[in-house]
Amino acid sequence: MTDPASHRQIPVLLDCDPGHDDAVAILLALGSPQVRLLGISSCFGNCSVEDATRNIQRVLALAGHAEIPVATGAAGPLLGDAALGNYVHGASGLDGPPLPDPAADVVAEDAVGFLRRMLVESDSPVTVVVTGPMTNVGRLLRDHPEVAPRIAEVVFMGGSTERGNHTPTAEFNTYADPDALDLVLRADVPVRMVGLNLTHQALATPDVVKQMLAVPGVIGQTCAAWMGFFGDSYERLWEFSSPPVHDPCTIAALLDPDVIEWREAFVAVELDGRWTRGTTVVDLHRRYPDQSPNVRVAMRLEVDRYWDLVLAALERLSDRLAGADR
Ligand code: BDR
Ligand code: CA
Repeated sequence: MTDPASHRQIPVLLDCDPGHDDAVAILLALGSPQVRLLGISSCFGNCSVEDATRNIQRVLALAGHAEIPVATGAAGPLLGDAALGNYVHGASGLDGPPLPDPAADVVAEDAVGFLRRMLVESDSPVTVVVTGPMTNVGRLLRDHPEVAPRIAEVVFMGGSTERGNHTPTAEFNTYADPDALDLVLRADVPVRMVGLNLTHQALATPDVVKQMLAVPGVIGQTCAAWMGFFGDSYERLWEFSSPPVHDPCTIAALLDPDVIEWREAFVAVELDGRWTRGTTVVDLHRRYPDQSPNVRVAMRLEVDRYWDLVLAALERLSDRLAGADR
């Protein structure tokens, strides 16, 4: 029999490229009772798709949730060569503390087939969260546009209202597959964008890391160690004193309607610029009056609220693991 409480949960499919902050997003989703995580698909991005898939499986094993189905996604973008983020996340894509080996196999379908089936089989529309390049979801909506009404919304980490990180103007995820993002922006699905202008407010300060370390057991220790590796990259590459933990902001947006302030705007992604391919163009001041707003854009983060959500989820996962051990 279905648990009646499950009807009040938000059904979520997560498409990601772990990546230290993707890994924290997975843990936030798993540790939040408001979310029903239907499955996770992988994409190239922070590392090769093979490493991203394995990293998802290892994070699920760490959290004691190997039952969540995992599907392998795209090895590269719709057009052009794959950009990889190993220079930020290390050789494995998730360098740092030791992690358990995968505790389950991936599903037989690829990410597009898996996403499509999960959408069709769900009894209510599903929120699709994307925290890597948009390739899998772009391909899904290009090849199976009939599933669009089954998507409650696409919430993605990527782009910026300001500057970029992978290039001076383009954020990594939107740079890695602008053509796929363009397909999604033109599809008939509601879209929320969580860009660098928002996620640079989500800093894992020494105080946050201290609170992670206070979570009993392996979950808190692992997150704190991830922040160490990620923090070193951010200091070396972008002179940040604490790392911005981008990807969990997408999940936090589902958990608490007040954790992020949003603004409706017309958003496009540059496909042709000589220096600006992959840059998001966010029209906050209606400079293109003929273009209607098509995206809700994340603007301001309630920082304490955000970390309270993350830390509470880590505590829940840690309690669950301790209970399973008894
Ligand atoms: C995005 O790129 C990756 O480094 C992170 O996982 C995040 O999704 C930030 O630009
Ligand atoms: Ca990511």
